[in-house]
Amino acid sequence: MSTGSEKRNIEVCFTPALIDYFDTAGKNVVLIDILRATSTICTAFEWGVKEIIPVASEDEAQAYKNQGFIVAGERDGKVLSFADFGNSPFSFMNDNLKGKSIVFCTTNGTKAINTAKNAVQLLVGSYLNFSTIVNYLEKDNQDVLLLCSGWKNKFSIEDTLFAGALCNRLITGKCFQTDDDAAIVSVDMWNNVKNDLLEYVDKSDHCKRLKKLGYHKDIEYCHTFDTTDKVPCLEKNIIVCL
Ligand code: MLT
Repeated sequence: MSTGSEKRNIEVCFTPALIDYFDTAGKNVVLIDILRATSTICTAFEWGVKEIIPVASEDEAQAYKNQGFIVAGERDGKVLSFADFGNSPFSFMNDNLKGKSIVFCTTNGTKAINTAKNAVQLLVGSYLNFSTIVNYLEKDNQDVLLLCSGWKNKFSIEDTLFAGALCNRLITGKCFQTDDDAAIVSVDMWNNVKNDLLEYVDKSDHCKRLKKLGYHKDIEYCHTFDTTDKVPCLEKNIIVCL
């Protein structure tokens, strides 16, 4: 935790497999899964969902379904056979979901949530709530760790670019500094490709996977800045809005 007078630190964890090398205690952790879990969570709250119950395994999701819960879930981008719908943000743009609790199970995003339990706050970040997350982190007097969900514990282009965009904004905003190589390289990557963002993201493994499944419009939507002022965060294992 910072004392307030000096700049706070910001670090980037490229994949959940590296999280044990970081100290999450006393930090705000921002969970990042741009394609698509954290973008979808932000969309769900913008559309009035009450809370999201993240689960890591299909068995847990199935158990909730058996109890009558609404379940959204995917594996490798494909909708789970027993789920009500998958992980497309467009599935959550539905007035019938207003005020509802939704169980959410995704390949990487909802697993990564469980890795940062000691954080002061686990916040859900995406381009959709970019400026609101920046304002929150600037006002709150904590160091910050950006946790990229990646793909099955591997590095992902789209999450790293978002981490770079967020680090860049926070560092130029003067409250934060970094000595972390992962943060430095993320910022450089962002600055190198920000003017052709979608063209570069198109090279990513998961972008190709989503396109094969027909989710072209999700990719563009998930790279749109500032469509919501919601800051989803984890409270007692459930995602709610701050
Ligand atoms: C995940 O959690 O791995 C992703 O959000 C996958 C997806 O695009 O559905």
